[in-house]
Amino acid sequence: MIVNRRVQVSLKASTRFGEVREFASIDSTNRWVAVAAANGAQEGLVAVADYQSAGRGRLGRAWEAPAGASLMASILLRPDLAPSRLGLVTNAVALAAVDACWEIAGVRPGLKWPNDLMVGEAKLAGILAESAGGAGAGASGSSGSGKGAGSTGGAGPRAVVVGIGLNVTAAPPGAACLAGISSAANAGASIDRGELLGALLMGLEARYGHWEAVAEEYRAACVTVGRRVRVTRAAGDLVGVAREVDDDGRLVVVDDDGATHKVSVGDVVHVRPSQ
Ligand code: BTN
Repeated sequence: MIVNRRVQVSLKASTRFGEVREFASIDSTNRWVAVAAANGAQEGLVAVADYQSAGRGRLGRAWEAPAGASLMASILLRPDLAPSRLGLVTNAVALAAVDACWEIAGVRPGLKWPNDLMVGEAKLAGILAESAGGAGAGASGSSGSGKGAGSTGGAGPRAVVVGIGLNVTAAPPGAACLAGISSAANAGASIDRGELLGALLMGLEARYGHWEAVAEEYRAACVTVGRRVRVTRAAGDLVGVAREVDDDGRLVVVDDDGATHKVSVGDVVHVRPSQ
């Protein structure tokens, strides 16, 4: 069992996330929740797995983790938001995940645009949002990249599946895991993935629907702002300074010639001033 009875009861009592399905092994929790959404599942359905054989990452990458070593969960949401603002849903999940890491493991990660949880320059967790209609992954980049996420995916409007992979006891080379940095006593043995998920879902419930506050909180938490960045985009690499996150969640980057670029989707690397 990943989520213990006490956490299950409190999620049922005080959040929309009362139905948590657990899998010892599955191809991808995001895929499973998307199928459930297409079949009319309600907002709030959550899937969590010990192991994924075909975990999906952003920008078409794979997401791999040893069995039991990370929190891998997907959440079905049907937010009442314009497609251009769907990235706020992902921002809310990221902010809730930061708080959960603090509450359960005594670690406060930073948020690298769009939604990576970082400890210094090492990635601790990634988030992938996908439209449940299957045609495109419209909500996966950032706010403002809602193209394709307007599909209904079964009952109700705009089903969005938000999946998180958070390294708990192991991480790929160059990445971070909670157990390696936690200040909690006996962290390696005691960081409970169910407690982490419970705290995350509580934090998401508290933010859900309060989209202006989410936008403000995200801007304050995003450690990319003010940094020199390299952005890998379909249109080619861009190097410059990240000045702000705009109202549509785009990263505003000023390049070395002084030109301003608004980035909706891309891979960002923080670079040193000389690079
Ligand atoms: C990223 O590339 O940074 C996002 C990774 C998201 C991985 C999670 S693990 C649970 C959920 N199911 C998937 O197939 N992917 C997400």
